[in-house]
Amino acid sequence: MITQHLSMRLALWMVLVTVLAQFGHAIYRFSTDIPQAKQAGLQEIEKVVGSLRPALSEALFQYNESVSAEVLKTFESYPSVLGVWLLDEDEELVNQWNRNNTAEQIPWMTRQWLLNYQKKDIGFVRIALSDQHMIKQARENILSNVGFSSLMGVVTLLLLYWVVQRQVARPIIQLANIVKNINTKELAAKDAASLDEIQFKAEIQTLKLSIQAILVQLAQNLADKKNTMVLLQQFNEDLEARVKIRTQQLNIAKDKAEVGSRSKTDFLNSMTHELRTPLNSIMGFSNILKSQELPEKWQRMVDNIHESGTQLLTIISDIIDFVDLDDGKLNVQLFSLYDVISATTHQYKAIALHKNLVMDMKVDNKLIMHGDPKRLGIALRHLIDNAIKFTDQGRVVIKCEQLSSDIIVISLEDTGIGIDLGKVARLSESFVQADSGLNRAKEGVGLGLAIVGRICKKWDGEIHFKNLSPQGTQVLLRLPNLKN
Ligand SMILES: Nc1ncnc2c1ncn2[C@@H]1O[C@H](COP(=O)(O)OP(=O)(O)OP(=O)(O)O)[C@@H](O)[C@H]1O
Ligand SMILES: [Mg+2]
Repeated sequence: MITQHLSMRLALWMVLVTVLAQFGHAIYRFSTDIPQAKQAGLQEIEKVVGSLRPALSEALFQYNESVSAEVLKTFESYPSVLGVWLLDEDEELVNQWNRNNTAEQIPWMTRQWLLNYQKKDIGFVRIALSDQHMIKQARENILSNVGFSSLMGVVTLLLLYWVVQRQVARPIIQLANIVKNINTKELAAKDAASLDEIQFKAEIQTLKLSIQAILVQLAQNLADKKNTMVLLQQFNEDLEARVKIRTQQLNIAKDKAEVGSRSKTDFLNSMTHELRTPLNSIMGFSNILKSQELPEKWQRMVDNIHESGTQLLTIISDIIDFVDLDDGKLNVQLFSLYDVISATTHQYKAIALHKNLVMDMKVDNKLIMHGDPKRLGIALRHLIDNAIKFTDQGRVVIKCEQLSSDIIVISLEDTGIGIDLGKVARLSESFVQADSGLNRAKEGVGLGLAIVGRICKKWDGEIHFKNLSPQGTQVLLRLPNLKN
C-alpha cells in the first residue's frame, strides 16, 4: 500500500540521515579531539615535571642515584612516557628510567627541561613521549560518545516512527481504504458521510474534509448524470419508435410511388407503342401518296402529313428511349467505337447535306471499349441531331480519343449558334430548352440532352459543354471503359 511505503520510506530516510549525521559527528570529533588529547597529555607531563623538578635537581646536585631512580620511577604511572634521562650540565647521563616492552612504540617527541639548584644550572631532565596512548584514549572517548548519541538517535527514531505511524501514516491508510472501497459508479452522498467515523487531526483533518467535499460533489454529479442518461434513454427510445413509424410510412409511400412510377412507365411504354403502330401505317400511306401524281394542292397536304408524321415518330422514339432508361440497365459488351460512331453519323449525312453542312468524322478504326453500344448510339444521335439542328452553316466534326485505358472522350464540335452555358446545368433535365422561343423555331420537345444525361449517369461518365470561338459549340462526352 502507498501509505505503508510512505512510512517505510520515511523510516529509511530517518535512518539514513541519522547514520550520516553520526558519521559526520565521528569525523568531526576525530579531527578535533585527538589533537586536543595530545595537547592535554603534554600539559600533564609538563605539570608533573614542574612538580618533580626540585626533587630531581636535588638528586642531581648530590649525584644520588637511588633518590634520582626513585623520582624517575614516578613517570611509570604516565603511560605516554617511554623513558626519562637525567643528564648533568655536560649532558652526561646520571640516571635513567625506561619503560619495558616499548620497542615497537615510536616516540612522538622528546623534550627536555633545565634543572637548577640554588640559581645555578646543573643539568637536564629529558623525556621521550609516545602519543599512542593519548590517541587510543581519545578514540575510545569518541567512540563511546558517538555510540551513545547513535543509541539516542535510534531511540528517537523509533519514537518518531511510532508517532508518524500513529499520527500520519495510519490515518492516511484508513482514509485511502475508505476512498478505495467506495464504488465510484454507485457513489452516493452516504458514502462520503462514512468518512466522519474516523477522527483525524490537523492537516489530515483538512485533507479528509476536502476529500469528503469532492465525494459529495462527485455523488451529486453522478446523480445528475444518471438522470440525464435516463432522460436520454427515454428520448432515444422515443426517437427510435418515431423513426420506426416514419420508416414504415416512408416505405409504404415509396412502395406506392414505385408502383405509381412503374405503372406510369408501363403506361408510357404501351402508349408510345400503341401510337407508333397507327403512325407507321400513316407514314406508309403518306409515302405511297407522295409517289402518286397528285394535284399540287393535294401534294402539299401529303408532304405536310409526311413531315408531321416523321416528327411525331421521332418524338415517340425519344420517349421510348427516355422511358427505357428509367429502369433498364446498360448492356455492357466489347464494341468498336468506330462502328458505332460511323453508323450514327451516317444516319445524319443526308440531313447535313440538305443543310449544306460538312460532316467530318475523325475516329481511329481500331478503337474499342467495353460499354453499351446501343445506348452510346442513342446519345450520339441526340448530340449530332442538336449539332446539325443548331448550325446553319459550316461543319460538324466528331472526334474520339482514348485518354487512358480507362477513359474514352468523344467530342462533337459545330459552327452553330453556340450554347447558353448559364443554363447548361439545367439542360440535362427532362424537357428543358435553352431558349423556348428559338426552339419552337428549331422544333423539338427538349428531351435530347435529358436522354444523353441519363445515359452518361448510368455509364458513370460526364458531359461538358463549351462555346467555341468565333462561334459554335463543343460537347465533350467522357466515358469510362466499363470492364475496369
Ligand atoms: N449544339 C448545340 N448548339 C446550340 N444549342 C444547343 C446545342 N445542343 C443543345 N442546345 C440547347 O440545349 C437545348 C436542349 O437540347 P435538347 O436536345 O435537350 O432539346 P431539343 O434539341 O430542343 O429537343 P429534342 O432534342 O427533344 O428534339 C436546346 O433547345 C438548345 O437550346
Ligand atoms: Mg435535341
